[in-house]
Order: sequence, then C-alpha cells, then structure tokens
Amino acid sequence: MAFPAAFIDELIARNPIEDVVGQYVTLKRSGANMFGLCPFHGEKTASFSVAPDKGIYYCFGCHKGGGAINFMMEIEGLTYPDAVRSLAKRAGMEVPEDEQYQSRYRQQERLWALNKEAARFFYSQLYAPAGEKGLRYVQKRGLSKSILTQFGVGYAPDSWNALVDAMRKKGYTDQELKDADLVGEKNGRIYDRFRNRVMFPIIDVRGNVIGFGGRVLDDGTPKYLNTSETIIFNKRKNLFGLNLAKKSKQGYLILVEGNIDVITLHQYGFDCAVASLGTSLTEEHAALLSRYTEEVILTYDGDEAGQRAAKRAIPMLEKVGIRVKVLKMRDAKDPDEFLHKFGPDAFKLLLEESSNRVDYQLTAIASKYDLKDDDQKVRYVQEAAELICTLDSSVKREVYGTRVAEKAGITPEAMKLEVNKAFKRRLNREKKQQEKIDLAPAQALQPKLRSVRYQNMRSAMAEEAIIGKALRQPSLLSAAQGLHSGDFSVPLLGNVFAQLKERYMQGLEVSLGVIADLTAEEMSHIAGIMQRHSEPGGEDAFRDCVQIILREKQVSSVSSDEDLLALRDKMKESKGTKG
Ligand code: GTP
Ligand code: MN
Repeated sequence: MAFPAAFIDELIARNPIEDVVGQYVTLKRSGANMFGLCPFHGEKTASFSVAPDKGIYYCFGCHKGGGAINFMMEIEGLTYPDAVRSLAKRAGMEVPEDEQYQSRYRQQERLWALNKEAARFFYSQLYAPAGEKGLRYVQKRGLSKSILTQFGVGYAPDSWNALVDAMRKKGYTDQELKDADLVGEKNGRIYDRFRNRVMFPIIDVRGNVIGFGGRVLDDGTPKYLNTSETIIFNKRKNLFGLNLAKKSKQGYLILVEGNIDVITLHQYGFDCAVASLGTSLTEEHAALLSRYTEEVILTYDGDEAGQRAAKRAIPMLEKVGIRVKVLKMRDAKDPDEFLHKFGPDAFKLLLEESSNRVDYQLTAIASKYDLKDDDQKVRYVQEAAELICTLDSSVKREVYGTRVAEKAGITPEAMKLEVNKAFKRRLNREKKQQEKIDLAPAQALQPKLRSVRYQNMRSAMAEEAIIGKALRQPSLLSAAQGLHSGDFSVPLLGNVFAQLKERYMQGLEVSLGVIADLTAEEMSHIAGIMQRHSEPGGEDAFRDCVQIILREKQVSSVSSDEDLLALRDKMKESKGTKG
C-alpha cells in the first residue's frame, strides 16, 4: 500500500539516519560523516558510513546503502510498510493506513503494552505480602534491591488468576492474554501460566518487554518457564540483558547461560553480560551481537554441555566478524556461583586470562580425530592449518604450527606448507564470495560512460572513494604515500589520482577544475564521483580505501602462497600503525 508522500517526508525528517542506524551500530563521528562496523557483512574495520546531512548510509565493503526506511528493511528483514511503521512508532507518529495493516500493527502494540503492564504487576507483587517467598528467594540469591529494580525482576503470585484479574481490570482481553502467552486455557477458562515464580522480563534492544522467564523458588521442575513464541517474541532473535549491556563501555560483551548469571554479573559491575534465552546460540543471535560489539567472551558452564555449547558458538560468532575468547570457569559451576564465592576481582582475573581461542580450538580440533590413524592424522593437520592460517602474526603461526606438527609427528616445515596451502584455499573462498557480492549490484555501479568498465568492483569502489574524498579534503592525500596510479584497477581513476597527488605534493591547488587530460564525458564521471562522496569521511575511511586497493592489486598479482601470507602481515602492520 502507498503512504502519502507528505507523511513519508515527515517520517524521514523525524528519524535522523544517525539515530536510526545508531540503535544497531556504534558510530564514531569523523568530520561530517560517521563510521562503524557494517551490520550487514562481517568485518573488522569500519567501512560502514552514515551521512547525517544527506540522510543516507553506505557500506564501502558490501555496497549496501540507502536511507532510514531502507535500513530498517535490511536490518530487521521488514517489508517496506513495516519499516515505515516501525520508524513512525519510533518518532511517535500516527500511521495513515488501511484497516488490515492497522490491525496487525495494533495487535503488536497491544502486546507490548500488555507485557509492560504484566511486568509492572509482577514487580509490585515482589514487594507485596503475596510475594514474600519470592523476595526471600532473590535475596538469598544475593541480588540487591537496586539490581532487581534495574532488571525489573518480579514475582508471579501462587495463584491461578492474580495476573488474569489484574490485566482484565486494565482492559486487556482474554485473547490478548493468550496471544502474549501469559495464560493457559482449560475448559474454556484461562488461568495464570506463571505461578509462584520469580519473573525476569525479557526486554528487547528498543526497550519493549517482549516476554518473560519465570524461575521456580525451589528444586521443582521445570526450573524455568519461558514465554514461547508470540507475534512479538522469538527467543532465537533476542538476548537477555542486551537492552542494558548495549550501553556498556567495556568494549566487549560477556555471553553466559543463565538469567541469574547476567544479573549477578551486572550487580558486580560487569555491565556487559548477556545470555541467550535458554537456547543454544543462533545465527540471529550472532548477527545481533555483532551490531554491538567486536569481541565476545564466552562464559559457558564448565560442564561438558557448556563446553559443547562454546564449541558450537565460536565459529558462528567468528563468521560475523566477532573476536571470541573463552573464559574458563574454575571451582564454580557458573559466574553467579563464582562471584559469590570469590568476588569480582577474582572474576576480573578470569576475564583477563580468558584463554585465547587458538589454544582452545586446537584442543577441540585434536579431540575430534584419532591421531593413531594416518588418514585422520592428515585431516587433523589440515583442519588445524585452516585455523592457524587465520592467525595474524608469523610468530603465532610458527608457535602453534610447531605444536601441531609435534602432535602429528610431522616436521615444522611440512606444517608450514600446509598452513600456506590452507591460506590460499581461504583466499580463494573469500574471493569467490566477494565476486558474488560484487556481481549483484555490478550493473548498477558500472559507470555510464562507454570508455570505462569496472572489472574489479571492490577495488573500483575504493578508487572512486579515494578520488571523491581527496577532492573534498586534499590533505587526506598525505595518507596515500604508498598508493600509486599503477595500483588502480581503473586507469582513468589512476590517472586522476596521480594528478591530484602530484599537485598536492607540490603544494598546488587540488580541485576538480585543475584535472587535465580528460574528455568531457570522463570529467562528468569524476564530478559524479565527487558528488557521491560529498564528505571526506576522515582519514580512517580514506586509509581503509587505500588498503582495499592495495590488497586487491596484490591478491591479483601475487602468486606464491608464501608471499601472500607475508603480504597480509605487511598490510596488518601498516593498518596497526595508523593510530
Ligand atoms: P540458577 O541455576 O538458579 O543459577 O539459574 P540460571 O538462570 O543461572 O539458569 P541455568 O544456568 O540453570 O540455565 C540457563 C538458562 O537456561 C536459564 O536462564 C533459562 O533461560 C534456561 N533454562 C534453564 N532451565 C530451563 C527449563 O527448565 N526450561 C526452559 N525452557 N529453559 C530453561
Ligand atoms: Mn546459574
């Protein structure tokens, strides 16, 4: 359905792009633009940009871009009308629409409101006479008044109708209570589903109460009763505590298993703890986490199930570009018990020494194979090599490679060869993936002029960005010492770059008007580029583009495996020194 144009205009005006994106991506301002890690593809350097004054976002890595509505569609997987609705809600605007759309949307709104009312009710019950048992329980678990309030912890009274009655009084229908999964039904009558349980509201990153986890007060079963799937709740897509942890300044998130672990951690100052909602980590969780952090510390229980869970979670997190560390719990079954036994300083030590994933993963890999069997030994070496080739220093590769070699009874040299082979395979895979990404929008991004074709889209986009940025802010060219026109995949852009750089070095004016040797058609292409890159976007973004061009150039020209690894180290180093 179509929304009135005036409504859309107002919607855009009331939803600044940086605020909308900022709900999902941590943005750092750099000049007129803001940068962050792209939420749409796994990456470790910030190639995702937001231009507040233009109301657009663009990723230099995966080339996704658009406005606020577009962003909501991409990130939440919404249809256009749903994205519009969610932005309208954000800005407190009424949506003009037909009855059918309105009803589903209203239904969601009602359930959010109902859940919030229910949370208020449970909260008040914890401090009412009926909640004495519950309060005693949470106190016994060492939870402070203020942390209970922060998490909105409550108590569902030992009654079949306390919540039902309270919510009916507030005007909610039986159907709505059923839709929110707050009640059960028998013989046509509904009754409170949560009884005599400590209630943990599950709150999404936008602050809506979307469900509950309810814990028994004793050893009864089931230990937890959780909201099952509703139109506003999906446990595969939400994490307990992320609404608070997303504001943490720690720079990493701690992923634990239990609700109580999360709350106790927050109480002791570890305000970056989150838990999956009684499920094993899903790809959706990983994607969600990657919007808020680059590093996750896994803190699964020390038992075998916990170890298995960690092993499953690691590759999923790494796939979305998250660095993973594993915290080994000692002398306690989980963080909650640990904190009460040993205190926060001891936990801080555990965090600091949280074993790097290499050790942990190599052990995990070895445990899969019977090393007395030659066939399996070969597979062990190969899989270990896949891991080792991802390490970013030659020293580490040497150390771990030698370790694996010893274990497998092969020479370190043979191992090194395996690692190089694995790296080559990995590059090929990445290249294929990149080609897939490049191919899709390739047509749209091809320049209009007939004399120029972009062969390597990734490089070409970075080349365009370099030109556009340099024209806007020539001083950026001082960060392009190592870049030469021959590195460009598009000769026209290389030519323009050479001219700009030359003039900059000589202290001459750098602008569109001074570029020589171009046909009118070529000139307007360059002007178009400048138009599209109307903010310089800061030195970091500029350097990232330089790196992309150099890497694309080298990858396409370097042949021996050995050189490739050495090259990557060099790139890493030059990135590391950018300050
Ligand atoms: P304590 O054992 O009291 O410390 O609670 P906890 O919150 O730390 O829970 P635990 O480590 O036992 O379990 C981890 C998470 O799994 C819980 O927070 C729940 O989300 C979920 N969970 C645990 N038991 C059950 C259960 O019986 N049913 C369901 N659906 N989920 C459960
Ligand atoms: Mn626990």
